[in-house]
Amino acid sequence: MTFHIGAKDGEIADTVLLPGDPYRARWAAENFLKDAVLVNEVRGMLGFTGTWKGNRVTIQGSGMGMPSLSIYVNELIKDYGARTLIRIGSCGAMQEDVAVRDVIIAMSATSISTPSDTIFRELKFAPTADYGLLEAAVGAAAKVGVGVHVGGIYSSDTFYDERPDLTSEMTRHGILGVEMEAAELYILAARYKRRALAVLTVSDHLITGDALPSDQREKSFGDMIEIALESAFA
Ligand code: HPA
Repeated sequence: MTFHIGAKDGEIADTVLLPGDPYRARWAAENFLKDAVLVNEVRGMLGFTGTWKGNRVTIQGSGMGMPSLSIYVNELIKDYGARTLIRIGSCGAMQEDVAVRDVIIAMSATSISTPSDTIFRELKFAPTADYGLLEAAVGAAAKVGVGVHVGGIYSSDTFYDERPDLTSEMTRHGILGVEMEAAELYILAARYKRRALAVLTVSDHLITGDALPSDQREKSFGDMIEIALESAFA
C-alpha cells in the first residue's frame, strides 16, 4: 500500500498499462484481461490486475497531466517494482496527414515543463521511448492491422492552450500530436531504468477541428490497447 495506491504487495504486475481515465482502465480490464481483479480504488483512480495471453498485466489509471501521472508512476516503480509501463491515451493531432482515430506511437516527447524540471535545472533532457518497446509496437500494429504514425509528440501542461503560435511551431517541426503525460513517464523510466512507451489514439484535431464521436471511441481505443499488450510481451 502506498499513499495513492491501495494494492497489496504482489498485486501489481511487472507490466502496467496506464490510461489517464480510471473508467477506461475498467473498460480495458473488462475487455482485454482474464480474471481481472480490482486492486486499487483510492481517490477513484481504478487499477485492475489480470492476465492477457497468460501474462500478468495491471491496468492503472494515471489521471490527467504529468503531476498526477508522476505520483502513480513513482509509486508503481519504487514501491511495486513495475518494469514495463505503457501509457494508453488520447491525443490531439497536429499534422494534416494525421487523422482522428489514427494511432500514434510516441518516439519522443517535447515539453515546456515537467515535474522533473527541478532536477534537470538548465538541462533540456530529451524524453525518449524504450526502443525495444517502440519497435515491438510498430510490429504489433502491423499484426493488428492498424496504420500508425511514429514520431515526436508534445506533452503539454494545458488542455486549453492560449499560444496558437506555439502550436504552429510544433506543427512546423513535425510534432504529430499533443497530450499531457508522456514526457514525465519517459523521464521516470529513464531515471529508474524501466521500459516505457506511449501509444495514443487521436481523439481530436487541432488543425481541422475534427473530433472522434464518443460512440466510436471504444473501437479505436481497443486497437491501441491491443498494440500496447502485444508490444509488452513481444
Ligand atoms: N490537448 C491536450 N491533450 C489532449 C488533447 C488536446 O487537444 N486531446 C487529447 N488529449
